[in-house]
Amino acid sequence: MAKRAISYVCQSCGAVSAKWQGRCESCGEWNSIQEERADSGVGAGPASTKRSRGRVVPLTSFAGETREAPRIVTGVGELDRVTGGGFVKGSALLVGGDPGIGKSTLLTQASAVLAQQGHHTVYISGEEAVGQVRLRAERLGLREAPVALAAETSVEDILATLEEGQKPALVILDSIQTLWTDQVDSPPGTVTQVRASAQALVRFAKRTGTTVVIVGHVTKDGQIAGPRVVEHMVDGVLYFEGDGAHQYRILRAVKNRFGPTDEIGVFEMSDTGLREVKNPSALFLGERSATSPGAAVFAGIEGTRPLLVEIQALVAPSPLGTPRRAVIGWDNARLSMILAVLEARCGVRFAQHDVYLNVAGGLRINEPAADLAVAAALISSLSGAPLPLENVYFGEISLSGAIRPVAHAQSRLKEAQKLGFSAAVVPEANLKDANGTPQMARGLGELAELVASVASSGQTLANA
Ligand code: TYD
Ligand code: MG
Repeated sequence: MAKRAISYVCQSCGAVSAKWQGRCESCGEWNSIQEERADSGVGAGPASTKRSRGRVVPLTSFAGETREAPRIVTGVGELDRVTGGGFVKGSALLVGGDPGIGKSTLLTQASAVLAQQGHHTVYISGEEAVGQVRLRAERLGLREAPVALAAETSVEDILATLEEGQKPALVILDSIQTLWTDQVDSPPGTVTQVRASAQALVRFAKRTGTTVVIVGHVTKDGQIAGPRVVEHMVDGVLYFEGDGAHQYRILRAVKNRFGPTDEIGVFEMSDTGLREVKNPSALFLGERSATSPGAAVFAGIEGTRPLLVEIQALVAPSPLGTPRRAVIGWDNARLSMILAVLEARCGVRFAQHDVYLNVAGGLRINEPAADLAVAAALISSLSGAPLPLENVYFGEISLSGAIRPVAHAQSRLKEAQKLGFSAAVVPEANLKDANGTPQMARGLGELAELVASVASSGQTLANA
């Protein structure tokens, strides 16, 4: 008789090992490895099921009739922007985010809008009882929306319910961690369960043309708990981000088979639910003052949308041997790099200073184009000279201290002009993109030029 195959699966990253270990060798997580039966359900090895003769599938070619993926447009502009123009029929979407960030609220509102448009919409809650979901709907003023609601966690029961009667256009499953299928015998929330449940749902979506939206919780280190595996199965992954201290929330597409990624939608959480923010630049600019040093406005791009963000730096003398470096909303390593370039190429020393860097409004930016704005904020804080209020900054800094050009210079400048900024400090090589707005751009070739211009407007740099 064949030995029953037992494998040990890391619940954090999904790595499989042959024996139990206290620490996962793949992701380094402690106590995350659980015993699971490998011969059950989805993901079972080829030896565990009887080989049957396959069906012959017709092969076709790239050329042939195609149609634009049919979409369901919600009419919620920010949501449609992130999905690339509405939910694609027959696709599966994963919406991830911290607990309490507003995933259920967003999807309750989206389902209500679609239901009011006459689409058959089903909301299945595995976390909350029907009463709790109703309370939320009442708070959102959506009591009358004709959404079909159920509280259920068994995938088989859910699929049986969905197969019966009118075919739904959209199904929301809140959340994948609570679902379980009797195809596998691991407890709910484990990698095997999550994978098997998601696979059954994705298959349902493809087969019936229903759009399936799956909610997934994110662990403290920002990954969708357990189901990294799910990310590969679904057609799109949206992250809902934001921090508790701010009322705005950002919906970000990190994977989209039917549209652009990196696109963001901005919402504001109010006591009557999420509201779209039509002009997010105004939101991230913060309270600006002409007299306080250390604030620079970065003209950024999120997806295809230009976005102005205030970058704040505080440089203060440090009592510590190893000064502190603290960053919120930007990359720590990138800050160290800019400090090093400022020191090595421009003679500006931060070695005896604590450095704090913050991106206003709780936004996270990843663009290297923010380098120049960060450097400007740092120099301004160190020298005590406020930057001109009418300036925006963008440009990438190379290790040699040169300012490198960045993409989309024209739309950055246009957005800045729209919001009333009359000057921009940009890479020299981007000056040619300023045709629409030539009077405002000033080109820089070297970081040292920025240091000189900021320092000349205030006191001399402490140890330059
Ligand atoms: P929820 O959608 O339940 O979060 P998730 O599903 O991501 O866990 O939202 C929870 C938070 O949102 C909660 O702290 C209360 C707040 N909230 C509002 O501020 N206004 C509202 O209208 C609603 C429904 C929730
Ligand atoms: Mg929820």
